[in-house]
Amino acid sequence: MAKKLHIRTYGCQMNVYDSARMAEVLAPLGYVPADTAEDADMVILNTCHIREKAAEKVYSELGRLRRVKERRAQSGDGPMILAVAGCVAQAEGAEMLRRAPFLDMVFGPQTYHRLPEMVARASRGAGAVLDTDFPAEDKFDHLPATGAAATAEAGGRSAFLTVQEGCDKFCTFCVVPYTRGAEFSRPAAAVLAEARRLAAAGVREVTLLGQNVNCYHGAADGARGGGAEWRLGRLIAAVAEIDGIRRLRYTTSYPADMDDDLIAAHRDVPELMPFLHLPVQSGSDRVLAAMNRRHGADDYRRLVDRLRAARPDLALSSDFIVGFPGETDADFRATLDLARQVGYAQAYSFKYSPRPGTPAAALEDQVPEAVKAERLAELQDLLNAQQVAFNDACVGSVLPVLLDRHGRHGGQLVGRSPFMQAVHVDAPEGLMGEIVDLRIDGAHANSLSGTLSGVLAAGADLPVSFPADPARLRA
Ligand code: 5AD
Ligand code: SF4
Repeated sequence: MAKKLHIRTYGCQMNVYDSARMAEVLAPLGYVPADTAEDADMVILNTCHIREKAAEKVYSELGRLRRVKERRAQSGDGPMILAVAGCVAQAEGAEMLRRAPFLDMVFGPQTYHRLPEMVARASRGAGAVLDTDFPAEDKFDHLPATGAAATAEAGGRSAFLTVQEGCDKFCTFCVVPYTRGAEFSRPAAAVLAEARRLAAAGVREVTLLGQNVNCYHGAADGARGGGAEWRLGRLIAAVAEIDGIRRLRYTTSYPADMDDDLIAAHRDVPELMPFLHLPVQSGSDRVLAAMNRRHGADDYRRLVDRLRAARPDLALSSDFIVGFPGETDADFRATLDLARQVGYAQAYSFKYSPRPGTPAAALEDQVPEAVKAERLAELQDLLNAQQVAFNDACVGSVLPVLLDRHGRHGGQLVGRSPFMQAVHVDAPEGLMGEIVDLRIDGAHANSLSGTLSGVLAAGADLPVSFPADPARLRA
């Protein structure tokens, strides 16, 4: 009989990909997806450790799930396997089993190819399973070839594909090098094979994922360490040539690893969408140095200029941290200046949060919480205004939108513009999964609305007009 699996995913897109692969590994054991924990035979929390109180939030969620597990045992529905995966599991390790002894499995991001053995051990009642090794073997070598269906996002047209994992940069605020381990690139041949399978299953848009995706340096032929290495620009060009792949994206990038070939790909590969998440964190050279970011604010500005020279309609997104230890008011003003000069279509900003075990957490001159909050509010006001300006500037243009979800209202479909905006449209169900030119007639803070009218009638070859002169977004 089918058993039910409920996976709850927190954090970044790589966790979304990992959750899909876990579901795939467990499918041969008879597990099918369940929407809620209440009717699941196995519940996995795939956790994120990047910011604030991550572990505490997991423990409080576990408190609730413990009661679900107990109710299930009492009602005679059979045992429930309760597991924690991902970066909190990696960071907490045995401590997690001590604080939550009712857990059946705790395992890190590099071990989920071993899930079938772990489940077998947990089901035997031989005690809880802990697996937070960084195995010497590559988990990708041991995972089944992806069936694409599980990996594909809603609608089956857009999928994530992990090409690189881990990080060796050691930014002083960041836990990733400790939770995901050393930097590792999958061989290009393996990535291309997975992309071909995705395309054959109907995927039209692929997002290449890595913690530091543009440091990608995969072996060309699949032989580990042998042969020439490919960088990301070359990989993008090769994936773009696969029949059926119409759109490509990559995330997340590290500015100092943006090489000439990758910049050229933004000019030469039409499938590469004109939207780039390029986190800068701070606009102050002093803070960037203390963060160990390996570039200054002007290097970043020059990089943005080169990217925009290659692809004039490129829309940018970023991450910012305010209140890094030692950040002065002048440092913060430099961040505001940089954001004003670049002009972002969208951005994330966070208060610095000391992460246990990272160098910055031990620095003495921590910024008071109230100052962080004030700076965050000021930066977010600016970034929100830029986002609204960018969305407003799209009104009146025609954008190709990959429709891949249903909207809240009947008859409504939702998709993504080239610039990652959600676009709502009243459209027939038959257009689900298609890339459709939409006339943009409304802009909201977080989405656009469009119509088919006049677009389909005018034919499919309408030129796509990009609305925003980036200069309009700058102060
Ligand atoms: N405090 C605040 N923000 C952080 N990030 C990473 N670590 C921290 C931290 N300790 C942010 C960075 C990164 C994004 C994924 O999360 O901006 O780019
Ligand atoms: Fe963290 Fe820096 Fe690596 Fe990004 S590049 S994952 S911020 S250490």
